[in-house]
Amino acid sequence: MEVSVSAKQIVPSATLAINELITALREQGEHIYHMGFGESPFPVHTLIRKALCENSWRQKYLPTQGIIELREEICSFYKKMFDMPSSPSQIVVGPGSKPLMFAALTALDGPIFLPAPSWVSYQHMGHFLSREVHNIVTNSANCYRLEPESLENSLREHAPDRRQQKVLVLNYPCNPTGHTFSSQQLREITDIAREHNVVILSDEIYALIHFRDQEHHSIAKFYPEGTLSTSGLSKDRSLGGYRLGTLLLPPDEKELLRCILAFGSEIWSSVSAPIQYAGIEAYRTDTELIDYMRDCAVIHELVTRYVYQRVHDIGISCPYPQGAFYLFPDWNSQRNELKKKGVTTSHELAHYLLKNWFLASLPGSEFGMPPTDLSLRLATVDYDGAAAYKTFRRKRKSAIKSPEAFVESIAPSVVEGCNQLERFMSQLIGG
Ligand SMILES: Cc1ncc(COP(=O)(O)O)c(C=O)c1O
Repeated sequence: MEVSVSAKQIVPSATLAINELITALREQGEHIYHMGFGESPFPVHTLIRKALCENSWRQKYLPTQGIIELREEICSFYKKMFDMPSSPSQIVVGPGSKPLMFAALTALDGPIFLPAPSWVSYQHMGHFLSREVHNIVTNSANCYRLEPESLENSLREHAPDRRQQKVLVLNYPCNPTGHTFSSQQLREITDIAREHNVVILSDEIYALIHFRDQEHHSIAKFYPEGTLSTSGLSKDRSLGGYRLGTLLLPPDEKELLRCILAFGSEIWSSVSAPIQYAGIEAYRTDTELIDYMRDCAVIHELVTRYVYQRVHDIGISCPYPQGAFYLFPDWNSQRNELKKKGVTTSHELAHYLLKNWFLASLPGSEFGMPPTDLSLRLATVDYDGAAAYKTFRRKRKSAIKSPEAFVESIAPSVVEGCNQLERFMSQLIGG
């Protein structure tokens, strides 16, 4: 059979090649320290599990936009958690935030601007849609933050007509860097977006997984007329497999809403009925679920800070994270030593670490960095979430006071992954 011209341009992701290598190594009996995979490990909260069971009898198609009871609950959630007013008519519920982003990018006209590094899927979505995609390379010394000046320079260079609409995809707390924005930084981005007719697609799926010294502000609060923001249950409630995502549109964007709903109606029809009804429970703010989410976020913080500290002490360059459960270290200062081992790209570095040190990671090139930038994304979630949560509940005070001992007790594979990095570095530097 012949495949279409557009399908021919889709290249298999390097993450798949790494996954195949992981499978092969595991079949040979090797233990892999899995810092490649970013799935929150905590169990489904019993309130949500119960709601799902009680609604399992529902078999009908539901409205593409999502049932009104769920959208109302989502609005109350945004108001309570982020002081963000919205109305149910601005919300679309979809099978994960990923397809909602794709629907939004399909509906929005204009070239797409992405900070680099940024999450793997945005650039592919842009390419599937045959759209111009411009990476705005950011700087590790600056925690890979998108600076207003670099945004403005990139807009001037690639789309100088201020009247032309452009789309900027933001994601914070960020996968892969863990970086987040302060309200002042968001305001500065907003000023430029207004001036240059930029619509912001703000991926805030990690909004509630930030360190305790941080706050999350949705950019939709500062730029309500120009922001579409996505979120969902996948990360803070550890429900990636439930496939429930949300899209918040600006008020009064009726044509945009019509296009997104038309797209959804042709592709996924609606989120499954039992999940939408269980979703009502998952968005309630008057139950113990809120504390559960906060506790899980603290555990993410303790483990991620631990890995950061280890990486830093070993002498690996890595910007300090502020949320999510990732780190984005780089080995650019060890370029010469790595070259001697035949490693000149982040892809080769990820393979080298997996083959020789059984440590799985993802290459920075998958996140839009130049191939020879020797950066890797490390995820910090390779532990038993149910056991970690139980221990945290019993020993909260001591876990917070002595995070190192806590992490060593709940996440031995993460600790051993750090040990492997230490051995690798001492071998690399020691020659
Ligand atoms: C930055 C980011 N956005 C979106 C998603 C996907 O979210 P969903 O499960 O809602 O499709 C992920 C999942 O890894 C992610 O890291």
